[in-house]
Formats: sequence, C-alpha cells, structure tokens
Amino acid sequence: MAQYQRIAQIIKNKPVGELIEIRGWLRTRRDSKGFSFLEVNDGSCLANIQIVADDTLANYADEILRLSTGCSVKISGLLAQSPAKGQDIEIQARRVEVVGWADPETYPLQKKRHSFEFLREIAHLRPRSNSLGAVTRVRSALSFAVHCFFNERGFCQIHTPIITTSDCEGAGEMFTVTTLDLNNLAQTNGRPDFEKDFFGRQASLTVSGQLEAEIYCQAMGNVYTFGPTFRAENSNTSRHLAEFWMIEPEMAFCDLNQDIEVAQAFIKYLVQYALDNCAEDLALFSKFVDKDLAAKLEMVVNNDFARITYSEAVDRLQHAEKLFAFPVEWGSDLQSEHERYLTEEVFKRPLIVTDYPKTIKPFYMRVNDDNKTVAAMDILVPGIGEIIGGSQREERLEVLINRIQELGLNQPDYEWYLDLRRYGSVPHAGFGLGFERIIQFVTGMANIREVIPFPRTPGSAAL
Ligand code: 4AD
Ligand code: MG
Repeated sequence: MAQYQRIAQIIKNKPVGELIEIRGWLRTRRDSKGFSFLEVNDGSCLANIQIVADDTLANYADEILRLSTGCSVKISGLLAQSPAKGQDIEIQARRVEVVGWADPETYPLQKKRHSFEFLREIAHLRPRSNSLGAVTRVRSALSFAVHCFFNERGFCQIHTPIITTSDCEGAGEMFTVTTLDLNNLAQTNGRPDFEKDFFGRQASLTVSGQLEAEIYCQAMGNVYTFGPTFRAENSNTSRHLAEFWMIEPEMAFCDLNQDIEVAQAFIKYLVQYALDNCAEDLALFSKFVDKDLAAKLEMVVNNDFARITYSEAVDRLQHAEKLFAFPVEWGSDLQSEHERYLTEEVFKRPLIVTDYPKTIKPFYMRVNDDNKTVAAMDILVPGIGEIIGGSQREERLEVLINRIQELGLNQPDYEWYLDLRRYGSVPHAGFGLGFERIIQFVTGMANIREVIPFPRTPGSAAL
C-alpha cells in the first residue's frame, strides 16, 4: 500500500525507494516519446512534484494524455532520484487516478502569470496560483507565530465579542447589526426603533476588541485578543479593508515605554518567524514582487526602531524639501504620505511616533502633563506607513470623566469602563497590530486585497 504524503514532507524527507501516494492539482503536463511528465501541486509548499507517467499505465491513452491544468489527481508510485535537471526527486507513477476534470477551454488559471487584479476577479480559484498560495501559507504561519509570541510571554488569550454595543475608537465607522425589517422600518421620531431590535438596543460589528480586553487585563494581568474587526470607512486604498484582523495585547502595570518595547519585540518576532519558517515562499516574493524584500526584512530584525515625538515629526515635515499634497500643521493627523516620507526617506527603518495631540486621538488615551498631548504611539514601517497604533490608557477616574465630557460622549454608556478606574485601577497600556499590514510588509505585496483570502472593501464583497 502506498503511503499518502504531503509534497512538502516528501521534499524534506526524500524517502527514495518508497511507494508513496500524493493528492493534488495538476499544474502542467508535458509529453515525450512513450511517457508524460506531470507537475502536481498540493498546496503544502510552493514546489510542485514531478511525476513520470509512462504509456504502460492502463489509462495512459484515454485519460493521462487528456489531463490539463487544474485537474485533481491521486497518484501513487516509487520515489526516485531524478536524472533530469530542475529537480532532484520524482515519482515514477504506478497508478494515476483522475479525481476531477477541469475543462481546458474554460479553466481561467493557465500556466502563464496572471495579474493580481485578474486573480481578484476569481477569488474562488486564486489560492491555486503560486503567489496567492504562498501568501496563504505565510499568513497561516504568522497567525501561529502570534499565539507563540504571547504564549511564551504568559499572556492569556481573550475572545472579545464581534457583536458589540460600544464604539471603541469613536470614529463613527461601525456597521450596524440589525434584524429590524428594513422594508418596513419601525421608527420613533424619524429614527430606527432599536428597542424593537434583536438585542433591544443598537448593536454593531466591533471596530476593536480593546475595551473588552481592558476588562480582562485588569483581572488576568497580560492579555491579548486576535480577531476580525470591521470599519465602515470609505477608504479605497491599498492599505484599508472594511474587514481586517487585528492583534491587540493589553498589559497591566505597564506604561508607554514598556508598551513600545513589547510592540517592537513583537514585530521583530513575526518577521524573524517568517524568515525562519517561510524561506521558500519569501524567495518567491523577493523574485517577483519586491526585489528589496530580503534586505528590508533583515533590516527590521537587526536594528532598533527610530523614535520621535509627534511634535518633532511635524517639525521635520515642515522643514522637508518635499512637497506634500496635504499641508502639515501641529494638530492635524499625519497622512500616509507624511508617514512614508519619515520612515522611508528620513529614518529608513521602522519609526515610532509618540505623544500625539489629544484632539485627534480617542477618549481612552492617557493625557500627558502638558494637557495637550496623549501617551500614544504609532509604529510606521517603510512601504506601508502605520502598522501599529497603541497607547497608555487613562487610569485616573477624574481625568477620564473629563475626557468623556470634553468629547461629548454619553457617560452612562461608559460606567462599566469607569468602574475599572474606581475599583483597583492600574496603569495599563496596549496596542493594535493590523494583521494584514504585517503580512503585506513581510510578503512585499503592494495591495492589502492580496493578503486576506476574501477582501471586503467599499463596493466589493465577493462570496
Ligand atoms: O490605530 P487603530 O485604529 O487602533 C485601535 O484600534 C486601537 N484600539 C488599538 C489598541 O490600542 N488596542 O488600529 C490599529 C491598527 C492600525 O495601526 C493598522 O495596522 C490596522 O489596525 N488598521 C487597519 N488595517 C486594515 N484596514 C483598515 N481599515 C485598518 N484600520 C486600522
Ligand atoms: Mg491608528
């Protein structure tokens, strides 16, 4: 009996002389006199395995010679050293079973390279391409690495809710979740009657698990959440999604400096993990997507990040030789062009910007002694801009109440959050890493739509 094995394992262990079975999808078929070469991929790694199928096989003439790109097959045979150039092992087929045919007239994925835009139109088939398959493996590896990082440091994972009734970021970018009949909407004073809704109040998809993570932080010490977040933000850029995954650690007895240290160690850990575990896939990106990728990743693991305050950043930008589309003045948010100029052209490495004006940041950030800025930090990386946003949280009850009033928020909605400051309040801090943005950084992919299996963006939600 042939033993079923994944191609990645076969390439690693090279069980020459063993009878093995592989299962996968045909990439190409080339015919020679008396036999055919089949290239099969099973998703376990970038490399295909070569199969030599000769014309003594019972179904050679009526099946094997009709195999085309995309067909699914089960093949068993002897693993042998390959005499030909290009691969060191091959399978000498004893049996080729066609599991599913793929009509070559209509199958959209041919051997040639397709543009990423075209691949996006076939979201259900694109994971079979080399590049999207490689992204998928890197994403899976880094998801695992996220849990390793926090587990090694004793953090507790918290599953924060996806449906929520609090707007963490206060940016009004929430998707409402409702079962109200939209064709016959119950209304009071011209507004939807959410009291009649499923939860008896207006509920939304979460924009961040932070506030709920803070609750658990102030019981468990160090916690993190890693889940999908949703933003109804009308940004059609190469770095924005309406549904993205975010990793948010929250640490008790922790200030902004310690927060920054964890954030920096975390980014380095993920990049190092990819270098150690995804070398073959990264080599593909270096070759076809971003020639400078390897140098960029090495630079991140080998250097400390630069650090400046927001005020220093504004100063640098105002004195820059470069013309920006958006003017820079103290008090306005940094635009992506500013962030990229600082990290790509001025510092040429990841950059931590701290102490932003309180007027452009959410209510929960700790107010600095100048009463103008907050203990916030963003981490910017070349090619992308902001990859992490974080802060020390306001742990002082009075100051927090002031902030809530200053921003015109409805205080009763935040009583539970204030309770955490009334009962055993501790300094604490955390941050959010956009998972797709780190995948973009590690793979060099220009567009965020390529690093999530099913991108959701304004006007688009295929499948
Ligand atoms: O800076 P943000 O909005 O911070 C928060 O949500 C905080 N609650 C985090 C915390 O302190 N626990 O978002 C954090 C990160 C950004 O730096 C960015 O990497 C990513 O989330 N992000 C997005 N990624 C893709 N598409 C979007 N629309 C994103 N918005 C933010
Ligand atoms: Mg931010």
